Amino acid sequence: MFKVSGLHSGYDGTIIIEDIDLNVQTDEIVTIIGPNGSGKSTLLKSIFGIVKPQQGQIEFLNEQITGMKPFRVFEKGISYVPQVENIFSNLTISENLDIGFYTSKIKDTKDELDKIYSIFPQLKNKNSIKSGNLSGGERQMLAIARALIGDPKLLLLDEPTASLAPNLVNEIMQKLIQIKESGTSILLVEQNAKKSLAISDRCYVLAMGKNFFDGKASEVINNKELGRMFLGSK
Ligand SMILES: Nc1ncnc2c1ncn2[C@@H]1O[C@H](COP(=O)(O)OP(=O)(O)O)[C@@H](O)[C@H]1O
Ligand SMILES: [Mg+2]
Repeated sequence: MFKVSGLHSGYDGTIIIEDIDLNVQTDEIVTIIGPNGSGKSTLLKSIFGIVKPQQGQIEFLNEQITGMKPFRVFEKGISYVPQVENIFSNLTISENLDIGFYTSKIKDTKDELDKIYSIFPQLKNKNSIKSGNLSGGERQMLAIARALIGDPKLLLLDEPTASLAPNLVNEIMQKLIQIKESGTSILLVEQNAKKSLAISDRCYVLAMGKNFFDGKASEVINNKELGRMFLGSK
C-alpha cells in the first residue's frame, strides 16, 4: 500500500538519506532501527512532506505523493507523530484532540472519540487536564491519539517510547497492536528495538543514511551479528 523507492533527501542541499527503498503492506507494523543520526527522523519527515526529497519516489495507495505538502499527505491518509513537540502542552487533552478534529474535518466527533478512548481509556478521565502536566507515557498516548483522528491508513511514529519506563514501553507496544488491528498500518522508528521488533512484521535497518538490512522482524532478532550491532545482544 505504501512504497518508497530510491529516495534521497536532506537539508539545504546536503544528502542525509541515500537511495532508500522501503515498503509497508496493509495491516503491517514495520520498524526502522539504526544508530543515532542515521537519518531515521529525516526519512519520516521526507515521507510526510516536511523535508522535500531530492530524488526518488513515494507512492501511497497507487498514487504519487512525493513532494506533497504535509496537509495534503495527511488528507491522503497518512498521519505522523514527530519525535519531539508532538502535543500542545498548554492545552488540555480535549483541546489537543479538538485540534485533531479541526484538521481532519471529521463531523461525527462522538463516534470517533469513543473509538480513540477505547484504545486510550486513561485519556478519558483526564480530559480537562493541561497536557503539560501529564506523565511522559500519557503525553505520547495523547500524541498518538490525536494522530489517529480521521482514521489514517498509515501512521508514522518517531520514537514513541523514548525515555519511557519499561512497563510503559510495553503498554505503548500493546496499543500499537490494537491500532494495527483496527485497520491502520504502522511505520515505526524505535530505539527500543527488541520490544518493537517483537510486535513488528518486518524491519529495516538504516546505517549512515542507507538501507543496511531488511527482512522479517524475527530474522533480526535471531541474527547474531545484527543482534550484537543493533540490539545490544552478546
Ligand atoms: N533540520 C536539520 N538541518 C540540518 N541537518 C539536520 C537537521 N535535522 C537533522 N539533521 C542532520 O541529519 C542527520 C540525521 O538526523 P536524523 O534524521 O535526526 O537521525 P536519527 O533520527 O536517525 O537520529 C544528522 O546528522 C543531523 O545532524
Ligand atoms: Mg530521530
